[in-house]
Amino acid sequence: MQLFLDTASVNEIRTMWEVGILDGVTTNPTLVAKEGRKFEEVLREVCALGVPSVSAEVVATDTEGMLREGRHLREIHPAIYVKVPMTAPGLKATKILAKEGTRVNMTLVFSANQALLAAKVGAAYVSPFIGRLDDQGELGMDLIRDIVQIYRNYSFATKVLVASVRHPVHVLEAAKIGADIVTMPYSVMEKLVQHPLTDIGLARFLKDWEKVPKG
Ligand code: E4P
Repeated sequence: MQLFLDTASVNEIRTMWEVGILDGVTTNPTLVAKEGRKFEEVLREVCALGVPSVSAEVVATDTEGMLREGRHLREIHPAIYVKVPMTAPGLKATKILAKEGTRVNMTLVFSANQALLAAKVGAAYVSPFIGRLDDQGELGMDLIRDIVQIYRNYSFATKVLVASVRHPVHVLEAAKIGADIVTMPYSVMEKLVQHPLTDIGLARFLKDWEKVPKG
């Protein structure tokens, strides 16, 4: 399973890239706005690190606008995936962009039928937002299970990118189901690394090592 960071912070991305556990990055307009920096400048810096998959979202809501923005974004760097919202104009734009060879990440997906449509128009990734479903009392992970099963039934090439992740249990469950990718905030990726027993164990080993005769 691939692990992505859901952030537009170049510092966060650089840190995890250097640790060596990062496979890609997803951004959205909200995350970009948080950084207070020019979008393209951020994208270029992230791509220059060597991150192989960087999702950048269009903000147009009509097909023509999505196509214009998508074609512009894909020219920035070969690692760019164009993020398009799950709407009728978005499906139309995705089909055209996919035919042109642009990899599209269909975003704001909240049902298995929407995911089926994303696969049918040739999206490279589908992004179901599980945390936002959990937030309103639905089981987001059930949606992942359904999408994975549907894609397997028909051998769709679209990858399931689990988004809107809130905690490490989401990552664990997505891995058990067999989702292709999980994108998560930096704080969640940090928690994947850490365990209190690791810290306690390491402190004890170092303390005991002091008792070993040296020289
Ligand atoms: C996915 O690509 C989105 O950027 C993201 O996961 C949204 O998550 P949120 O619900 O925490 O805003």
